[in-house]
Amino acid sequence: MYFGVDYYPEHWDKNRWEIDAKLMSEANINVVRLAEFSWSKLEVSDNQFDFSWLDEAIGVLSKYDIKIVLGTPTAAAPKWLMNKINAYPVDIHGIQKGFGTRRHYCPNNSEYQFYSKRIVCEMVKHYKDNKNVIAWQIDNEFGGRCFCDNCKKEFQEWLKNKYKNIDNLNSAWGTVFWSQEYDNFNDVIIPSYPANEGFPASPYNHNPSLVLDYYRFCSDSIVKYQKMQIDEIKKYTDQPVTHNLMGHCGELDYFDLGKDLDFVSWDCYPCDMWSSHHYLDVSMAHDLMRGIKNKNFWVMEQQSGPCGWQHFGKTPEPNQIRLWTYQSIAHGADAILYFRWRACSFGIEQYWYGVLDHDGIPRRRYKEIQKIGKELKEYGDLLEGSQNINDIAIIKSYDNLWSHTAQKHNWQFDYTNYLMSWYFGFAKNNVGIDVTSNNADFSKYKIVCLPAFNLVSKEFADKCKFYVENGGTIILTFRSGIKNEDNSMTEQILPGYFRELAGVTVEEFDSLRDGITNEIKGKFGHGKAKIWCDVVSTDTAELISEYADRFYKNTPAITVNHYGKGKVYYIACDLDDDAMYRLCSYIIANESIEPIIDEKIDGVEAIKRIKNNDEYYFA
Ligand code: GAL
Repeated sequence: MYFGVDYYPEHWDKNRWEIDAKLMSEANINVVRLAEFSWSKLEVSDNQFDFSWLDEAIGVLSKYDIKIVLGTPTAAAPKWLMNKINAYPVDIHGIQKGFGTRRHYCPNNSEYQFYSKRIVCEMVKHYKDNKNVIAWQIDNEFGGRCFCDNCKKEFQEWLKNKYKNIDNLNSAWGTVFWSQEYDNFNDVIIPSYPANEGFPASPYNHNPSLVLDYYRFCSDSIVKYQKMQIDEIKKYTDQPVTHNLMGHCGELDYFDLGKDLDFVSWDCYPCDMWSSHHYLDVSMAHDLMRGIKNKNFWVMEQQSGPCGWQHFGKTPEPNQIRLWTYQSIAHGADAILYFRWRACSFGIEQYWYGVLDHDGIPRRRYKEIQKIGKELKEYGDLLEGSQNINDIAIIKSYDNLWSHTAQKHNWQFDYTNYLMSWYFGFAKNNVGIDVTSNNADFSKYKIVCLPAFNLVSKEFADKCKFYVENGGTIILTFRSGIKNEDNSMTEQILPGYFRELAGVTVEEFDSLRDGITNEIKGKFGHGKAKIWCDVVSTDTAELISEYADRFYKNTPAITVNHYGKGKVYYIACDLDDDAMYRLCSYIIANESIEPIIDEKIDGVEAIKRIKNNDEYYFA
């Protein structure tokens, strides 16, 4: 199993490299990621390449049998290049970003693409036969959206390709509303300068159909930029290619981004300057990373010290790094690399501590990592490649995320948090969960949970029907089936394409605010809604729970419909955490899903992995 660190030899004097390599090797480290962000050292001026320092660093590390993942350096373009081309991105308010941080480029800039391709090409030609290089990482943590004039032009092309003629676009977006009709694609705007993105509410935000297509376009632009680099690498070598993703980040469609990668890796910071994340929040991010390709992944940056840019999060306590490491492995990590080997004494990340402190002296965290390395030397190969085989899938959709972000329904509603409340409900019952895409093969699951799946096509509804007819169980919730894929409301009776499956009709709804809540009581126990209640009547569904309050008192809050050989639950309202836990217990029991371990202890997570018929249990 690969066990390593993210290392930036260019930040230290050469005579330190050997000491570092020796310390790494004594900590059982066998892989490092190098070169990410080092463009100015690799291409010192236009077309003048210098790989000598990197060769030397790789040489020193190789003496200690340490393998290399090479990062392409395109997340931090050098000044000479940015002086030459106008590739700085423009933000939503029209302000152009300048030099001096990172990610200061527009992915649609053709000149930037040219220079990116050239540095990648030179790197791969130089390292393709180096036996110590085992994989490539493209760029760093893709994200963000650009609103420059060039993106506008590219967006218009993207729209032409999608809608073929302008009438189709006008009708899909409903541009007749407020005289927004376009005569040709060259007139179409990009959604910059909204009054407010989402909240507080305003009529001066853009058409939600335009916003959704623009977000899709921005995501596609990054996927295309990444593919350009991957294709360049693949011309010369078969070494696998990855990118370091960011867990719950919602700025681009990770399922699309993952398609061109050989494996997914991600950067896991359970306790950063923003918060100490709940352990299940981290677990869910791991499960999503596994769900992108339905395949094991790497943790390319595992937190290894206290960290923050301007202020710190909490210092990891003794054995906490070890706990995080095993949590990653439990959820499908086949390799762990810690960020970073040694804290850097300059730059914006000088507060970002790693395995070693600024003085380079091995202390508590080094010793802990050394111990993990020793354990993984013994058990790593047993665990590597083992599978998390789960009965439950929670479906995440970036289109749905972006639609819910453009219009929140209720100011307290947050799609990512709502998905998380389902994840927590199931996970606290000690059952394993896959977090994956609506394009996944549903037939391998007993339960497919589609929280707030609002954008629905007939094809997707048919896929769901087929799955349920053949014995699957689907969980649908409020705010499902209300829109088409263009982000416009359906004119069907709600929940639209899901109505026959759910066996209910949504007659009206109650968006809760002003501190108003509603009690729910029924077969699974009781609970409280505080965001949203659909008022439903049953067509063919049976009642599980009903509302105890409001003008729709005693009407259904939770139902189940038998359809074909399967079942569809309809959850008409949000629920507090305890109720969610109880509802998940009720559903799991009804669907005969066995918990991984029976005993449920608050704060203890149970995960099972399987390899060659052997079962590995993690608590
Ligand atoms: C990650 C990033 C690293 C480093 C780290 C600590 O998000 O990939 O390059 O910035 O955070 O800030």
